[in-house]
Amino acid sequence: MGKNFDAVYKERADAVETALDKYVTLKNNYQSKIYEAMRYSLLGGGKRLRGVLCLTGGLLAGGAEKDVMPFACAMEMIHTYSLVHDDLPAMDNDDMRRGKLTCHKKFDEATAILAGDALLNGAFELMLKSKGRESDTLKAMEIIAEASGTEGMIGGQTVDLMCEGKEISKDLLLYLHRHKTGALISAALLSGYVACGGKNEGTAVLREYAEKIGLAFQVVDDILDITGDEKTLGKPIGSDNKNHKNTFIGFMGLDGSKEYAKELSAAAAETVKGLGEEGKFLAWLAEYLCDRKF
Ligand code: IPE
Ligand code: IPE
Ligand code: MG
Ligand code: MG
Ligand code: MG
Repeated sequence: MGKNFDAVYKERADAVETALDKYVTLKNNYQSKIYEAMRYSLLGGGKRLRGVLCLTGGLLAGGAEKDVMPFACAMEMIHTYSLVHDDLPAMDNDDMRRGKLTCHKKFDEATAILAGDALLNGAFELMLKSKGRESDTLKAMEIIAEASGTEGMIGGQTVDLMCEGKEISKDLLLYLHRHKTGALISAALLSGYVACGGKNEGTAVLREYAEKIGLAFQVVDDILDITGDEKTLGKPIGSDNKNHKNTFIGFMGLDGSKEYAKELSAAAAETVKGLGEEGKFLAWLAEYLCDRKF
């Protein structure tokens, strides 16, 4: 693989982008608008972190990129659905995402709700139609379904909204961040590994790594909501303050949060040391995500 991990990340992210473009196509029928809205939000933006993690999980298990690609794309589709809904007026009410108008601003609210729903269903259809060993596919899908649902991302989003404007404990803040963001990040790496027949013994280390980077990722997201550059970030700054969100900044301040994200990513990097070249890539990724500007 060599040491140029930037290039490796870009290659994997580009491969996910190409596959998404192939899987989610326009259709010339009465409901063509829904395909337009799905593609508008899904393509041409985003870091593709969950897709890259999923591919990396598959490679760690000895799988081939093409076999794990449906799961990587499904993760990105579910993630995009969560963003389309997160931006709606009923949730964070934001106008910009990935450097362009949010789905409900470009189309309308009803279309954005349906496009999100369609991306979620499409993700499961894509995985069901994948060609891997059935038992591995089902195990991977179970991980993804759980992480997306009421005990995962949806649970976290529910708590996030319930806690707007309220004083909460640090434990609850950790719970919120781990669920709304950490869950899908962990599922991405683990589902890729499991979809390619990865052995049970390997999952503990990957879970530990992913839980740490998942939390660090949301801490950095909170930091960027204050210090980020809107153009680079592609979404509004100050959204959390506007919505009276509970963030890490409120608990630890800006410097404390930066320090905490650094500690988490260093600890994550440490856990994957023994995993060969892909482990080195994951260690690099942990640091990279901490220093990111978008
Ligand atoms: C944004 O996720 C929402 C969070 C879970 C913090 P990303 O920062 O990964 O968004 P994209 O996919 O790169 O647009
Ligand atoms: C959202 O967290 C996490 C999701 C599950 C979509 P945020 O609301 O902080 O994400 P951004 O900042 O809008 O991307
Ligand atoms: Mg939100
Ligand atoms: Mg938001
Ligand atoms: Mg945010």
